[in-house]
Amino acid sequence: MSGKFVVQGGNRLSGAVRVGGAKNSALKLMAAALLTEEQTVLTNVPLITDVKIMAAVLERLGASISYSDPDVIEIKPGYSLYAEAPYELVSQMRASIIVLGPLLARLGRARVAMPGGCNIGSRKIDMHIRGLEMLGARIEVGHGFIEAISEKLVGSKIALDYPSVGATENLLMAATLAEGVTIIENVAREPEIVDLANFLRKMGAKIEGAGTPTMRIEGVDKLHGVEYRVVPDRIEAGTLLVAAAITNGDIMVKDAIPEHLEMVISKLRDIGAEVIASDAGIRVAGCKCINPTDIATLPHPGFPTDMQTQFMALLAMANGTSIITENIFENRFMFVNELNRMGSDVRTEGRHAIINGVPKLTGAPVKAPDLRGGAALVLAGLAAEGVTEIFDIYHIDRGYHNFEHKLRALGANIQRISKGERSNILKVAK
Ligand code: EPZ
Repeated sequence: MSGKFVVQGGNRLSGAVRVGGAKNSALKLMAAALLTEEQTVLTNVPLITDVKIMAAVLERLGASISYSDPDVIEIKPGYSLYAEAPYELVSQMRASIIVLGPLLARLGRARVAMPGGCNIGSRKIDMHIRGLEMLGARIEVGHGFIEAISEKLVGSKIALDYPSVGATENLLMAATLAEGVTIIENVAREPEIVDLANFLRKMGAKIEGAGTPTMRIEGVDKLHGVEYRVVPDRIEAGTLLVAAAITNGDIMVKDAIPEHLEMVISKLRDIGAEVIASDAGIRVAGCKCINPTDIATLPHPGFPTDMQTQFMALLAMANGTSIITENIFENRFMFVNELNRMGSDVRTEGRHAIINGVPKLTGAPVKAPDLRGGAALVLAGLAAEGVTEIFDIYHIDRGYHNFEHKLRALGANIQRISKGERSNILKVAK
């Protein structure tokens, strides 16, 4: 269901909202379920487009999928899995590449369509491939597919050139069933990596060091099906916290984990938001002024690239000039052109965006360039004077479930208008 969001800006958001399960963990846990023939039950699964695509990939591989509740998914891979993840599914969601490691570990072979780039960058997978080869796989890339074969994966010492989230996950999953010990150095340390390691350990894997720069995995013969709750989504939580700051509102994001958002909380405080962190969640109680600040996106525990556009929307109205440096993806500034249509004064020079704060943003028709840029346009619309129409919102539906409902419950004047419908907000605005 796509269409557009229509946002009438100016309302201060307030109230409490519960953050859902993490997209960037749930997709990997679903892939990791392939490592056993037994049934796995995942709870707190976000009902987003990407989860539905991953479920379709698993079913195409031969697993049976059922949903007992909206946020509960049962996955039963069974004994006879296919080894091919087809182009028409992988091309819809590049994260499908994460089935490569599990299929190779379970079946000794895998044929996965090359994910290709996406709006924000080339999204290479050279570290995935090199790491699996070091575990003994023979890999050929051609005709748009990755073909991997291994009689038996054997533990090895691997050092990643860069702490790639996806490469860490594929290698971690493959190593759980490899013969002997695997050491992976310079691994990603994101909370979703720790969630995947916790899930695998519950399945019977032997893993040490998750969340640190080096992981040690001792291969086992078999893993078991388990029940597991997906970790809360730190990026959805961060997005809702910025919604509070950008409207000078007061929002309590329940279930958000402060330890997962230390840099985001620190930057919100630098900017001028009052942030209260507790075991129950994280609250932003107003942001009376928006001070400029500089941000550089880095691998965790550095500032998360997935929060870059949301902070750019906030800093667009700062009382000074900010610089955002995007170090992770080579093309994650497409959002700038759309934000400037709303009256911001941002220019980019390579990996840097220079943001000269303006007193206000004005509503305009804009187009979501990607998932996080789309969410950030909604945030800008909440603060802008007048009406903002955000098109191509299918990008947003990939990673945010019921986004407009959660914001409306907090006082936002936002509507989803499907193609052909008319918005009563527009009538009011005229
Ligand atoms: C994951 O992508 C997330 N996606 C991204 O979230 C997130 O931005 C990213 O990690 C960084 O935190 C999912 O988890 C589904 P990477 P991933 O491998 O695994 C280069 C969102 O909005 N690289 O750490 O693809 C790559 O080109 C999405 O939810 C190589 O060069 O991230 C990129 O520039 C966006 N070779 C950089 O590393 C490789 O073999 C980061 O990639 C692998 C990666």
